[in-house]
Amino acid sequence: MANNQIQEALEWRYAVKKFDPTKKISDKDFNTLLESLKLAPSSYGVQPWKFLVIENPKVREELKPVSWGQTQITDASHQIVFLYKDVMDEAFVQKYLERIAEVRGASLESLQGLKDMLINNLVKAPEEKIRVWSQRQAYIAMGFLLETAALLKIDATPMEGFSASDYDRILKLEGTGWKSVATVTLGYRHSEDSFQNLKKVRFADEALIEYVK
Ligand SMILES: Cc1cc2nc3c(=O)[nH]c(=O)nc-3n(C[C@H](O)[C@H](O)[C@H](O)COP(=O)(O)O)c2cc1C
Repeated sequence: MANNQIQEALEWRYAVKKFDPTKKISDKDFNTLLESLKLAPSSYGVQPWKFLVIENPKVREELKPVSWGQTQITDASHQIVFLYKDVMDEAFVQKYLERIAEVRGASLESLQGLKDMLINNLVKAPEEKIRVWSQRQAYIAMGFLLETAALLKIDATPMEGFSASDYDRILKLEGTGWKSVATVTLGYRHSEDSFQNLKKVRFADEALIEYVK
């Protein structure tokens, strides 16, 4: 992909306020979007996240009023809710190590040093610190998703405008160790969404980018 095509896609992207409810994302494109979530980086590679694809339209109807009534929730083709690991425990670390062993053909014994480090740095760290850390990781995946969507010319809205506790209740997350932190609706912009015509408001380069020489 040429640089100007990337630039053009990023300028084309905006946070959609009104989706065209008649347009659906193809399975092929949606799979690529899911791959971008899976391939996102995370600190230590731990992936303290989950991605809930809300397929049930009735559930989306329920989520809308606790999302400030935002119409994207029900009109978009797809909705993904980002979950983070609320408390980092040894069992999760162990699951990760077993996955490394499986994928890379390593022995668990050879991963003991990594295990000790993860337990020290994550499991034994103050819970609130790790909670915030886990949420940050989820936002990295969100960024990957948004960029991939833009490159595919699929519209998206990143959304924090909802009650996380209501989402956790509706999505039956209580007691699972996972909590909702953000959601992204995906699909195709409505021709009447006036936000697509607004100029992007971004600080000037000098305010954003500094060079340390
Ligand atoms: C984490 C996050 C949460 C957001 N929450 C909402 C939301 O709940 N509803 C909405 O319409 N837009 C939401 N936005 C969109 C922003 O308002 C939008 O990205 C910003 O104004 C910049 O505009 P642009 O994305 O169209 O360039 C959110 C954006 C981010 C990154």
